[in-house]
Amino acid sequence: MTSNDVEGHYSRGNLYLIILDALASAGKDVGNLRPEDLDPLDHFHGRGVAATAEMVATLELSKGDEVLDIGSGVGGPARFVARTYDCQVVGIDLTAEFCAVAERLTQAVGLSGQVRFEQASATNLPFDDGRFQAAYSQNVSMNIADKAAMFGEAYRVLCPGGVFALSELALGDGGEVIYPTPWSSDGVHSYLLTEADTVAALEGAGFDIVSVQDNIAAVRRFRQEQKELVARDGPPKLGAFILMGDGAGEKGRNTARNLEEGRTRAIEILCRRP
Ligand SMILES: C[S@@+](CC[C@H](N)C(=O)[O-])C[C@H]1O[C@@H](n2cnc3c(N)ncnc32)[C@H](O)[C@@H]1O
Repeated sequence: MTSNDVEGHYSRGNLYLIILDALASAGKDVGNLRPEDLDPLDHFHGRGVAATAEMVATLELSKGDEVLDIGSGVGGPARFVARTYDCQVVGIDLTAEFCAVAERLTQAVGLSGQVRFEQASATNLPFDDGRFQAAYSQNVSMNIADKAAMFGEAYRVLCPGGVFALSELALGDGGEVIYPTPWSSDGVHSYLLTEADTVAALEGAGFDIVSVQDNIAAVRRFRQEQKELVARDGPPKLGAFILMGDGAGEKGRNTARNLEEGRTRAIEILCRRP
């Protein structure tokens, strides 16, 4: 596998227009977008903005902190952090198109003074040692074979005492992962570890583990709420499915099945650079 395979998996070619069309169809004023208008579609992970809000709350951010989003996608989480905590956020992502879309959406909602994006790999961050007060990475590590490099880089760019929240799908003991999933169409660039191996890799990079959480109960609650909303209002017009394109439905169903059958586990680990 090369990095380009991962970028090819996520690239759409015309994603910005796809997003604007979807927002217009949902009745949003695309000439006058507010950050919260994007919330239903710009968080590319299970449970959307709710999951982001819960995860970043654990970072205990202060106004003016500089925060790194590792694998920032189209930038929903970075914009959420900036507007909620009045922080400066830098996002890096391997997929050039996602970085370009993230920049344009950020400009469209007036947050360019606080949030910026750069194309880079999580395994080779273009930042000085000790620069950030906090970092997080949501549903990115599944694509990264070299966890030691990823976690080592997160550790390096954090200041002493800095915190790192990792949210990912870990390997469960319920059998083979069923593909396609949102991060891999066929398992080719999928590198899941068990929770224990992820913890060991983070400790190997030098982190102290603060907490480890399994989010299956929250996932089930969220799915139930979504079912009720669909029964009441019909299928949603906006969602992360817009970012995934063809096959989004099957990827979503497989994600749910993998979790329910224990093939994968939705985990969140908070750790600290001593
Ligand atoms: C499922 S999306 C999650 C995006 C974002 N974290 C979010 O939650 O909205 C996975 C992201 O990981 C990025 N990615 C995969 N491998 C990467 C790497 N080695 N370095 C940086 N980003 C990577 C992809 O380009 C994609 O944007």
